[in-house]
Amino acid sequence: MTAAAAIMLCVGCTTEAPRTEALLNQSDYQTQIDGKPVDLYTLQSEGITMQVTNYGARIAGLWVPDRDGNKVDVVLGYPTIDQHLNGDGYAGPIVGRYGNRIGKGKFSLDGVEYQTTINNGENHLHGGIGGWSTHAWNVDNVGDNTITMSYLSADGEEGYPGNVIITVTYTLAGNDLILDYRATTDAPTVLNPTSHCYFNLHGDSEVSTNSHVLRINAAEYTPTDAGLIPTGEIATLEGTPLDFRTATVIGERIEEDFEALKFGAGYDHNFVLDKSTPNEAGLTEAAVVYEPANGIEMSILTDQVALQFYSGNFFDGTSIGKGDKPLCYRAGIALEAQGYPDAPNHDNFPSRVLRPGEEYTQQTIYRFATK
Ligand code: GLA
Repeated sequence: MTAAAAIMLCVGCTTEAPRTEALLNQSDYQTQIDGKPVDLYTLQSEGITMQVTNYGARIAGLWVPDRDGNKVDVVLGYPTIDQHLNGDGYAGPIVGRYGNRIGKGKFSLDGVEYQTTINNGENHLHGGIGGWSTHAWNVDNVGDNTITMSYLSADGEEGYPGNVIITVTYTLAGNDLILDYRATTDAPTVLNPTSHCYFNLHGDSEVSTNSHVLRINAAEYTPTDAGLIPTGEIATLEGTPLDFRTATVIGERIEEDFEALKFGAGYDHNFVLDKSTPNEAGLTEAAVVYEPANGIEMSILTDQVALQFYSGNFFDGTSIGKGDKPLCYRAGIALEAQGYPDAPNHDNFPSRVLRPGEEYTQQTIYRFATK
């Protein structure tokens, strides 16, 4: 189906009110991948219910209250592990080793050139064909409101140097989903792990996220070429349809005649976050997204320097997700807290190099509220 046909198909089915979804069945997620058991875990806090699988450390469902107290599943995904294996591979996982893009998959580190897998045009995306999202992670600890998973990314995997151990802990606390990352390596390497959920605050993959109101705490972005590889420039957002410093409806300017919007087929850009007012924990507010129809608001707090905002431009309605509903054109947004794309090839971008003896850490919080 063409994207245009998918838009037509999806337009007809946008009127249903958000419903309270049933939880996913654990048995539909039980299998073996990489010779390891894969399962589905249910976590609960006062406000949030989350289901997560160790396949790619993936968030499978995330139920938060709307303004009427209904629990709405605000992430796109699939009802079974088989559908995840055959569907959009970036629905909910941790992506890495290098999330986002590396130009032509090449980078030099300490004078050695490395070639990573090419899987996105002529470039490397989200850790390559067999990136972190495609593997079964170890489950190290599970509690009522928390789970810790880890993965050993072997030296040479997808072309990267060094054995990297990545550990991710998801914790629910009140209306917060807290993500803590840790990584170590035994040889110099680069990494840029991020959580790749497609959020749809309607809780309905047939209703476009163009209606969401978004604010991003960034005054600059990193312009790219047509393949979405940064040119190296850090440009002002002032006067562009990418400036979200004032909360704006996502669909309002998405079709504007602006080169960066053409390259991304909509929003697919790296925003340089304003880090000037960190809280006591060193986190800054990266973005706030709000859906007027049901009052759900999500804020993202992070210690990362950048945020990729992707407006679901490649969904075409052919993939069938939860509730037997298609993942429709622009019916999911990714807001990925991370370093800059292609940083290993730009000395003026903050470094994403990790060396033996160092520990990489990241904390990002998704905070839910209603208005
Ligand atoms: C990221 C990229 C997008 C797209 C999605 C996955 O957000 O920036 O271009 O590849 O992942 O579909």
